[in-house]
Amino acid sequence: MADKKNILITGGAGFIGSHVVRLFLNKYPNYNIINLDKLTYAGNLMNLKDVENASNYTFEKGDIVDTNYILSLFEKYDFDGVIHLAAETHVDRSITDPLGFVKTNVLGTFNLLNAARIHWKNTEGKLFYHVSTDEVYGALKLNEDTLFTEETPYDPRSPYSAAKASSDHFVRAYWHTYDLPVVLSNCSNNYGSYQFPEKLIPLFINNIKNNKPLPVYGDGLYTRDWLWVVDHARAIDVVYHNGKQGETYNIGGHNEWKNIDLIYLLCDIMDEKLGREVGSARKLITFVKDRPGHDRRYAIDASKIEKDLDWKPSTTFEVGLARTVDWYLENLEWLDNVTSGAYQEYYEKQYTV
Ligand code: NAD
Ligand code: TYD
Repeated sequence: MADKKNILITGGAGFIGSHVVRLFLNKYPNYNIINLDKLTYAGNLMNLKDVENASNYTFEKGDIVDTNYILSLFEKYDFDGVIHLAAETHVDRSITDPLGFVKTNVLGTFNLLNAARIHWKNTEGKLFYHVSTDEVYGALKLNEDTLFTEETPYDPRSPYSAAKASSDHFVRAYWHTYDLPVVLSNCSNNYGSYQFPEKLIPLFINNIKNNKPLPVYGDGLYTRDWLWVVDHARAIDVVYHNGKQGETYNIGGHNEWKNIDLIYLLCDIMDEKLGREVGSARKLITFVKDRPGHDRRYAIDASKIEKDLDWKPSTTFEVGLARTVDWYLENLEWLDNVTSGAYQEYYEKQYTV
């Protein structure tokens, strides 16, 4: 329909992207949501099974690194807005394949920015929203109450965070140099349903279920600030609709956990849910060699988004984590499809003839 806005969401088949696509499809019937995703190992269209037939939803399989393809997509849909989540996201993989992270996170973001600049002759009503991470700020010290604010200088230390930092700089450069209407957010670690089981929480849920070792890096005192993915999607909604152009919003849960304490909590929840003897999951904990360049602590000061955009997390970590465990245990088919690789056949089955 001509009066509907066309919104491009990149990386919508991933963990956070699928929550954002679902939220926008349900909340904004006046938007056409175009989900562009390459379907790397992290992209899974089964994440969107419940909404894939919505009349305002279109899936486009494609690579943000392909300049001409991205230009043609802007021609095809004349996007009103872009919410850019597509990225390579796993720190451990960035240590073994840094170039892949430069390509997708830096060049891919550049291609989208450039296509928007070329295509948006009139920027009235347009917006390019870049979704980023708190890891660009580097590492905080353990046992200090310092927090990352929007003014914290960038100090990325892994190839993942260096590539994300570079993409953030390009987004701001396009705002300052070409007046491209942009907004950014930098969020802390997310947890919840549909997360690929290579990241700490779903990996450990899967391993506990299968009585496999739980590899804790280093001394286990590394600290992260965890946010429920549904709350991140809500934050993305308010930043997209009410954020001030050119600004950055930090998003976090005021919810710092040392890895080992989180793992103990997760083990105890899993024992209870699986009806196993108390303490059995903890026996699977195995301390292993540390990750190179492992950032000691991340913690977000989210007061700007709370004050300016009236957003705050909706749930406590204990409730969110228990809900997350329930989801994985109730969706063993999803987990099996992901761990076996079968999910990668879903696109061919569902989208090609
Ligand atoms: P994810 O790895 O689960 O999903 C990434 C998605 O991007 C996948 O669907 C993948 O197929 C797609 N993709 C990758 N390369 C692509 C390419 N070249 N072209 C098109 N699509 C491509 O990631 P996530 O955890 O959902 O993270 C989404 C975004 O949020 C990322 O930009 C990430 O940096 C940011 N972020 C993540 C977290 C977190 O805790 N997961 C926290 C803060 C910010
Ligand atoms: P991860 O989920 O990879 O997120 P990030 O590195 O982006 O913060 O890891 C979260 C924390 O858990 C981090 O300190 C590394 C640690 N970790 C382990 O101890 N063992 C593991 O197997 C994984 C995947 C992570």
